Amino acid sequence: MMSRVAVVTGGNKGIGFAIVKGLCEQFDGIVYLTARNEAKGQAAVEELKKLGLQPRFHQLDVTDDSSVDTFKQYISDIHGGLDVLVNNAAIAFKHNSLDPFSYQASETIKVNYFGLVRVCKALFPLLRDHARVVNLSSSAGHLSRIQGDELKARLASLTLTEDDLSQIMRDLINAAQTNTHRELGWANNVYSASKVAVSALTRIQQRAFDEDARKDIAVNSVHPGLVETDMTSHRAHLTPERGARAPLYLAFLTKNTNIKGKYVWHNNIIVDWINDPLPGPY
Ligand SMILES: NC(=O)c1ccc[n+]([C@@H]2O[C@H](COP(=O)([O-])OP(=O)(O)OC[C@H]3O[C@@H](n4cnc5c(N)ncnc54)[C@H](OP(=O)(O)O)[C@@H]3O)[C@@H](O)[C@H]2O)c1
Repeated sequence: MMSRVAVVTGGNKGIGFAIVKGLCEQFDGIVYLTARNEAKGQAAVEELKKLGLQPRFHQLDVTDDSSVDTFKQYISDIHGGLDVLVNNAAIAFKHNSLDPFSYQASETIKVNYFGLVRVCKALFPLLRDHARVVNLSSSAGHLSRIQGDELKARLASLTLTEDDLSQIMRDLINAAQTNTHRELGWANNVYSASKVAVSALTRIQQRAFDEDARKDIAVNSVHPGLVETDMTSHRAHLTPERGARAPLYLAFLTKNTNIKGKYVWHNNIIVDWINDPLPGPY
């Protein structure tokens, strides 16, 4: 029997590290902690080994075609398939960042949206029956964050394709260069835009899995809570372990679950991405 395999992107710290830890404790199979920086990734693996856990390490930079292709080939050669994929890697510029908005827009969307798309394109063909994919979104990724009604309707449409969505995100990057993104319906927050796109993509991905010959593949997006990590400059109330709770719940959804293509809050409650107001607390 082939071993079951789980992969977490951006696993060297924060919520990703806590997800790897939780998987090592509960997943019946091999867990890959991946990181863009080899030294940081190896150090994180060593930390978990001190706790008696056995994650494996592989380098993975979600923005780098050759890194992603190398990893895909490795998983394919060694394991022949994949059972859990947690798309956790992301960046957020600080509120006081001096980087121009145009740069923040292109970098944030490059990592948080196009990086996730790249990983999914490479690894989705390896997913086996009953695979679980978890896309880390945010409270900032709810559709209500979008200001323009027309943009909202496009993002919510059941006929939106991945190509359409990627074009919408390229248009945002271009508009941000000339500070005209608000005219397209976006707010002044590119992190939020990238996470709305991740949640919109999740719905598209699930529609494709529903038509797939492979059985019962579930992909969901999740708000992990406001978590004390480098991303929040440690100014948040939840621990990374608590932040890992809902992502782990989604990684372990039982066979033939009906929780598919959903937007899930940190307390494991499903929130209607289009119609519900944002629940509290964050
Ligand atoms: N913390 C919160 O309150 C909160 C709230 C809502 C959603 N989230 C989401 O939860 C996820 C984890 O956030 P966090 O708070 O744990 O953030 P974090 O502490 O900043 O960790 C982010 C991780 O992503 C990695 N990463 C960044 N760019 C990458 C790339 N190009 N390739 C591979 N890995 C990359 C980082 O690696 P390096 O160490 O090399 O930078 C790091 O391991 C993110 O998707 C975030 O948007 C967090």
